[in-house]
Amino acid sequence: MFYPEEIIEEVRLRNDIIEVVSSYVKLERKGRRYFGLCPFHNEKTPSFCVEPAKQFFYCFGCNKGGSVIQFIMGIENLDFPEALKYLAERAGITLPEPEDSEEKEKSRIRKEILDINKEAARFFFSVLASKNGLEAQGYLKRRGLTEKTIRQFGLGLAPAGWNELTEKLLSKGATSGLLLSSGLSVRAKNGELIDRFRGRIMFPIFDIRGNIVGFGGRVTDQTQPKYLNSPDTPVYNKSRELYGLNYARQSKSKKLLMVEGYMDVISLHQAGIDYAVASLGTALTQMQAWILKKYAEEVIISYDSDSAGQAATMRGIDILEKVGCKARILLIPDGKDPDEYIRNNGPEKFKNLVDRAISLLDYKIRVENKMHNLDTVDDKLKLLNSVADILAAHDNSIEREIYSKYYAEQYGISLESLVNEVAKRRKKLISANSRPMTIRRSASLGRGSQASVKIDSRYGELEYMLLVMLCNDNRLFERVSAQYGPENFNDPGAKKVAEKLYGRLEQNKNCVLAELLTDLDSNTASFVVRVAETKCDLADTEKAIAQILNKLELLKLEELQKQTIERIKNEKDGNLRQKLGLEFSKRAERIAELKRLA
Ligand code: CTP
Ligand code: MN
Repeated sequence: MFYPEEIIEEVRLRNDIIEVVSSYVKLERKGRRYFGLCPFHNEKTPSFCVEPAKQFFYCFGCNKGGSVIQFIMGIENLDFPEALKYLAERAGITLPEPEDSEEKEKSRIRKEILDINKEAARFFFSVLASKNGLEAQGYLKRRGLTEKTIRQFGLGLAPAGWNELTEKLLSKGATSGLLLSSGLSVRAKNGELIDRFRGRIMFPIFDIRGNIVGFGGRVTDQTQPKYLNSPDTPVYNKSRELYGLNYARQSKSKKLLMVEGYMDVISLHQAGIDYAVASLGTALTQMQAWILKKYAEEVIISYDSDSAGQAATMRGIDILEKVGCKARILLIPDGKDPDEYIRNNGPEKFKNLVDRAISLLDYKIRVENKMHNLDTVDDKLKLLNSVADILAAHDNSIEREIYSKYYAEQYGISLESLVNEVAKRRKKLISANSRPMTIRRSASLGRGSQASVKIDSRYGELEYMLLVMLCNDNRLFERVSAQYGPENFNDPGAKKVAEKLYGRLEQNKNCVLAELLTDLDSNTASFVVRVAETKCDLADTEKAIAQILNKLELLKLEELQKQTIERIKNEKDGNLRQKLGLEFSKRAERIAELKRLA
């Protein structure tokens, strides 16, 4: 571990799992658990649950589970020390410097890449300002960007030569390894390092703290590809970043406007719409949706209205709905992107469009509407059926009612028949959705441990069950440890956990499962939580423990019997053979007894 155990435990205790998970997943209380849609796999009915009393989460669908630390590791795509830092920050705890050298090394590399990126951005900026940059300056001016904007977004120019930046950075002492891992240089066929970005207008990509994590480069002519971007590096992961968020998060507006490209964000900010961010050409990812939700009360999507943009909007809607983020869609007339629209119509007109952004429900129905001509009765029927489906799937009952009224009028049918139809479909939908939950649950029970978990297939589950039970009721410690000490554990992972737990209980300190989970890799943590949630019947802990101990003993004895048979076969000494035979039959008696008890 990189940090003292007490600190890790303090971080865990000061971050209530319900609070933390709630900022990513909409949770609903059901009995002692909270349920929501699993953020780790795609699903339509909730099989993801959080146990407030035990402070862990578990998904009956994909079997992922763990403590609040593993949740953050998974959802924010962080390693353990990063997740710990994140949660410490959230709770206002100051962490000491990590002691682990591997971790120090990683953070050193990250820092080096950020430094070299900053160096590169300065270089690109100075090239743009030089006389070699005149043409590019003209291009940016023609696109309406002011000097101030260019400075705010740190735009620059990569020179046309093969290796100007690479040479410069090497001469300043950067290693070729660093140049390659930052993505600024690539290895040419002849083995030499050359610049990745050549003859392009450069857009530095800032993370939320304002570090330069990568670059996008645009040609000023028709050359393909139009944009070239940094690859993913130790500091850049394109599915996590949102271009412009470093500025947009400081906006007074509580909204965020999602657009597609670099130029859209830049023009919007220049026009005073300082809450625009871009997903940079890729469809909105779930990670980005969580980030949006964290920084905004409402998200307005304004993608291109071409078919690709429309598909991206639909996907974006689904993802935003899934994380429970309020969203509306802004439609730009004539298929223009925000940048072009503002240049042609000015900022005020665009702001009007923002105010008129439509709801997700409305958008879905409009898209459906576009697919029908309504020139035959049959076509109209198809449309109305789809509309009823869309309305039925919509959770907000007030909106359902208002839109039902609106569409009944719009399509000239009685409100009553539309409302009835929607209610009927909704009922069906809900009952269909509540069933798979139990089916999936039993299916996952039968599936057993995942292959990726390196856990002893015979002992692992039983030994972890024992540990879970002990965590649940610390008073059982004396009885259990008398029969099954840490030295008896066969699964190496369970043995380690046992050592910690037993050590704790020996000193009369309490210990809960969530505390032990934080030490485990996420696969093992998931396995243990699955055991806790699905295998451990806590109604009669004492009886359950007795059964587990019996099963463990049985396993061990059967293993010894097999070994004894082998030894008898190979033993030449008659006396010894006889002794082994005696052992064998004694053990056979005990086995029979244990089987009777089971
Ligand atoms: N994009 C990319 N690679 C490409 C094309 C596009 O990475 N070959 C990304 C860029 O982040 C770009 C976004 O997708 O900003 C949207 O693409 P597009 O609409 O084609 O570009 P615009 O941002 O409108 O750029 P411009 O206005 O300069 O043409
Ligand atoms: Mn554009």
